[in-house]
Amino acid sequence: MPAQRKTVAVCACTGCTKRGSSEVREALEREVVAHGLSDHVEIQAGDCDGLCGIGPVVRVAADGVLYRAVKPADAAKIVAEHIAGGSPVERLRYQGPGAAESVVPESGHPFFKDQLFWVMRNKGLIDPESIDEYIARDGYFGLAKALTELTPERIVEEVLTSGLRGRGGGGFPTGLKWKFAAGSKGDVKYVLCNADEGDPGAFMDRSVLEADPHSVIEGMAIAARCIGAKKGYIYCRTEYPLAIHRLNVAIAAAREYGLLGTDILGTGFDFDLEIYEGAGAFVCGEETALMASIEGRRGMPRPRPPFPAHQGLWKKPSILNNVETFANIPQIILNGGAWYAAVGTEKSKGTKVVALSGKVKNIGLVEVAMGTTIRSIVYDIGGGVPNRKKFKAVQLGGPSGGCVPESHLDTLVDYEEIAKVGAIMGSGGMIVMDETTCMVDMARYFMDFIQDESCGKCTPCREGTRRMLEILQGICAGKGQEGDIEKLEALSEVIRESSLCGLGQTGPNPVLSTLRYFRDEYEAHIKEKRCPAKRCTALLKFWVDPEKCKKCGLCFKACPQGAITWEKKQPAVIDTAKCVQCMSCFEACPSSSIF
Ligand SMILES: Cc1cc2nc3c(=O)[nH]c(=O)nc-3n(C[C@H](O)[C@H](O)[C@H](O)COP(=O)(O)O)c2cc1C
Repeated sequence: MPAQRKTVAVCACTGCTKRGSSEVREALEREVVAHGLSDHVEIQAGDCDGLCGIGPVVRVAADGVLYRAVKPADAAKIVAEHIAGGSPVERLRYQGPGAAESVVPESGHPFFKDQLFWVMRNKGLIDPESIDEYIARDGYFGLAKALTELTPERIVEEVLTSGLRGRGGGGFPTGLKWKFAAGSKGDVKYVLCNADEGDPGAFMDRSVLEADPHSVIEGMAIAARCIGAKKGYIYCRTEYPLAIHRLNVAIAAAREYGLLGTDILGTGFDFDLEIYEGAGAFVCGEETALMASIEGRRGMPRPRPPFPAHQGLWKKPSILNNVETFANIPQIILNGGAWYAAVGTEKSKGTKVVALSGKVKNIGLVEVAMGTTIRSIVYDIGGGVPNRKKFKAVQLGGPSGGCVPESHLDTLVDYEEIAKVGAIMGSGGMIVMDETTCMVDMARYFMDFIQDESCGKCTPCREGTRRMLEILQGICAGKGQEGDIEKLEALSEVIRESSLCGLGQTGPNPVLSTLRYFRDEYEAHIKEKRCPAKRCTALLKFWVDPEKCKKCGLCFKACPQGAITWEKKQPAVIDTAKCVQCMSCFEACPSSSIF
């Protein structure tokens, strides 16, 4: 591409593609041709600015202007006014939560300014299907260094010095895992990448694979050199077709360039990769279940030891790492472990990619330095809770995670600090909840997921989680009984202690953490048959307080059932026989006089 050409990147991540980014790209291409600008402007399929809630996103690289929610019909204006005319189209420009931000450059946008892009350093800046563009941003230089300058022992040393811990949930030191596998005897060893990403609401790994597949391939090749493996597998769920497509393109290109296959870079080192498409069972993300699945058996965990570093895939020494973990490796090798360890807290180094979702203004993918506060992620980057609702909690770490209430918002993103407040870093999911979230219902949702995904091999997980779910369903349905909370606590303890794998061992966490901070909500459901957040419909009986009612009639207009009677200057009245508890009146009432 000639240097003077302007690049316009249209986000092609799964979210933006679903919202029509391919059509936007085609329309922009047509307009560029119509304006005779083909020699000066390149329309690229870029990836991914992380602003997943407002796509399709279009970035004009030369001046860093971001457009959001672009439609094909907007292409003519963008090309005529901005690309040809030099004046950005203000109506479409990403403005951040405050209008004043519309004039600042992209780096000053609230969503971006507190982020640190290491894992996502290439996102939106390179075409993920171009190996040349990856190489132009130092891609495969880490591998070249690992092959020509470093011994396997030095690679282990650098990774240990970096302090990198596994991003798949457990936070186990990556260098240590590699050291064990490097020290294991055997001619055949495997490097495995866990791209199963089963946590509800998580899309960090998918985004990394879609935006920068070569960074994961390079990380795996370095790991292979370190432990002495010749073969690797990327276990990716089949629901990620774009990630799989880009991985296939990247693997083929790396082979063509002599960066995968035999005699890599003329050093005599051989390593090749294969993608294994998993069918999307959550438990297949557990390392021993994942290996069973690649072997063609049903994905069920097995007891450890033996650990995979000694007996992994087909009983050969293996290492398994998460996508984000591998994506960190090339830069650690290129810049040195000490460079990496300079950012973060005492025990959690580098950055963490977080999927921010729920009741927050800026939903999307965020990368922050370890040690950033959760408050900063939710408020400075996320823009806080929309619709003037009150913040209630943020759920961290997926189904094995826990809730952090307002009083702990200043907790640092750090494995140990997050664990102290009853949650886990997990793979980096953060779901923000406002005052309208019922914490018992939330616990019920996660328990439903866990019991559904239990593989059934061990009794505590198979039966115990089902019993817990039944109790939670009963509480939400207004059938809660004295003693239910104690039963939940006792079951949690047994399931945690006696389950075979992490699924059961951590499954009760959402219940335990909501009990720790929101026990009063459980008690209100059980003792008063009341849902304080007004979510559990079986417990709702709506009525209007005539004293507080502003007599505005907004609830009357909002009710889809005709269950509300109202006349000018009269308080509204709800007919409970007709009411279907849809919450429309409650949400429409400006004076909070509906109960
Ligand atoms: C039920 C269950 C599901 C898991 N799912 C994933 C997953 O989707 N992706 C992942 O990287 N790790 C997952 N893990 C953790 C892996 O077993 C393993 O610890 C991790 O992939 C190791 O890589 P890391 O050290 O780089 O984190 C899961 C664990 C359990 C118990």
